[in-house]
Amino acid sequence: MAAETFIQHLRTSVEEQSFVKLTLSKPSNKGGALRNIFARLIQLKEEWVLSFTLRYTNRDEVKNHPVEEAITLITLWLGDEFLNADLFTTTQDHSLQYNRKRKARLFSKKASHAEAPSANHDKQKQRLIDPKQAKYLHPMGITGKDGQLLKTGQKKFRQINKYIEILDSLIDQGVLGPTPHLVDMGSGKGYLTFALYDHLVNNRKIQASMTGIELRSKLVNFCNQLAEDIGFDRLKFLAMDIEEYKPEKIDMLIALHACDIATDIAIAKGIKAQSSYIVVAPCCHKQIRKQMQCQTALQSVLRHGIMEERQAELVTDGIRSLLLEASGYKTKVFEFISTEHTPKNVMITATLGTGRDDALEQVDQIKKDFGIEYHYLEKLL
Ligand SMILES: C[S@@+](CC[C@H](N)C(=O)[O-])C[C@H]1O[C@@H](n2cnc3c(N)ncnc32)[C@H](O)[C@@H]1O
Repeated sequence: MAAETFIQHLRTSVEEQSFVKLTLSKPSNKGGALRNIFARLIQLKEEWVLSFTLRYTNRDEVKNHPVEEAITLITLWLGDEFLNADLFTTTQDHSLQYNRKRKARLFSKKASHAEAPSANHDKQKQRLIDPKQAKYLHPMGITGKDGQLLKTGQKKFRQINKYIEILDSLIDQGVLGPTPHLVDMGSGKGYLTFALYDHLVNNRKIQASMTGIELRSKLVNFCNQLAEDIGFDRLKFLAMDIEEYKPEKIDMLIALHACDIATDIAIAKGIKAQSSYIVVAPCCHKQIRKQMQCQTALQSVLRHGIMEERQAELVTDGIRSLLLEASGYKTKVFEFISTEHTPKNVMITATLGTGRDDALEQVDQIKKDFGIEYHYLEKLL
């Protein structure tokens, strides 16, 4: 009876969102590795789940279960795996205790917690972009008239914020100088170009100027008009091939999802201009994939198309990073946003400084292993 009442309190607290936390402790198997389980209520996407942290002697394991499934598990564990359960809610605390004969007693007392913790797993982070202040977001269809984020714009907004976070921490290194020129190659609709300009000029008060280069003149016209409308005076867009672009100076070069070898052209322009930062998120990797004829035991694995595709990405971007290092840059390659937002989520950041002497040798070895004649970036350098 006591266990059923305890489960009823648990169910009610979840339904009424007065649930604070639950702990299962005193394992019946004293010598076992599982010591206790801690549960919290979270919302994942649209679904409410109980997130269990299973605490073993030498590690923790997190498992999420939809509420009903979780309650069934807890019911099975009570009095069997665990002889103690503590439920904290904002209305009362309940403690279920089993004695040696596995007879349960329930103790309830005044709540020790006044508030339930935030149940949003994707916690509202402190964003660098304020959707109500960023004037470019509405014309770009990311926010509504009053600055509220539109459902359709949320993914893009998260992506832009992540880019800005990464670029902001690079800029924190302080090598940009007082009047930097930034170039976005393959700027597309200009989401990131506007966001970065706004962040540098209006948030960080840096006297930056910025140029977006884009083949499609329709997008360039849209961006130039928008920049004028919202008073982004030192932000310009040029309708041209990045290959033709001859800048006087570049302090930060970015190219996000520029197609295939456009990423290489952008990197080469950045290196030649001795840009302090080069930041690229490559897109498709056709140039290397077409040439790849693996000479190692991996060959038998790469006969599967998906393996070959992933290997081509790895080799293409790996060589890009090495060539940047051979040119005096320090690089980082990482996943900048979860795959649920975009599958093209590898970013290379390069900071002018110390490179690596052995980088070219390593490029040669990789080319041999994969039967690659040349990497497009090599030819450009
Ligand atoms: C996938 S979009 C990415 C746009 C933007 N960077 C973003 O992340 O939202 C790639 C853009 O690069 C442009 N592009 C590709 N090759 C280019 C080149 N050689 N010169 C200029 N623009 C190029 C395309 O027209 C396209 O708009």
